[in-house]
Amino acid sequence: MFDTMTMTKATGAVCGSLLVYLLAAWGAESLYHVGHSGHGEEEIAQAYTIDTGADEASAESEEAAPDFATLLASADVAAGEKVFAKCKSCHKLDGSDGVGPHLNGIVGKNKGTSAGYAYSDALAALTADVWSPENLNGFLENPKGYMPGTKMSFAGLPKVDERANLIAYLATVQ
Ligand code: HEC
Repeated sequence: MFDTMTMTKATGAVCGSLLVYLLAAWGAESLYHVGHSGHGEEEIAQAYTIDTGADEASAESEEAAPDFATLLASADVAAGEKVFAKCKSCHKLDGSDGVGPHLNGIVGKNKGTSAGYAYSDALAALTADVWSPENLNGFLENPKGYMPGTKMSFAGLPKVDERANLIAYLATVQ
């Protein structure tokens, strides 16, 4: 039968495991809370990281994106010829004018000086200017933004590498 010692040991064991259980439950609870507040801090830290990361990323992409001059220096003439498909409906390269004036020798040519072509007043007023690669780059990105009043109905080429390739191609067409 159970003697007092055994009873005491059994009770102690039960109490001990109860205590361990309570401690474990409390520990888990407080761990959960610690973990939760830790998560909160992590979120704050992450929001901060996202902010600086975005700044760094945009700074990097600005640095990484080559400018027009750099792209023009290493332009792909064959790719530029393909881009010219977007201009073909209006511009010819055989010296004759269509909806738009011909573009033979356009790089370095004075603006609005294709003899016999009826330019808009906006373009006809600019004959003292030259179609430098930079000017063509600005015009082709956003024709109506660059030259308000132009009658060239073309939305523009948003990609700087396409413009560089196209202008390099046009420079080969005399
Ligand atoms: C929908 C027809 C149309 C398309 C497409 C078009 N253009 Fe034009 N373009 C014109 C017209 C019209 C003018 C004359 C604008 C004016 O007088 O204001 C013109 C003028 C120009 C001029 C000035 C020429 C000069 O003699 O000063 C350049 C350069 C030019 N276009 C290049 C392009 C290129 C490159 C493309 C293709 C990316 C293109 N255009 C697409 C109709 C077009």
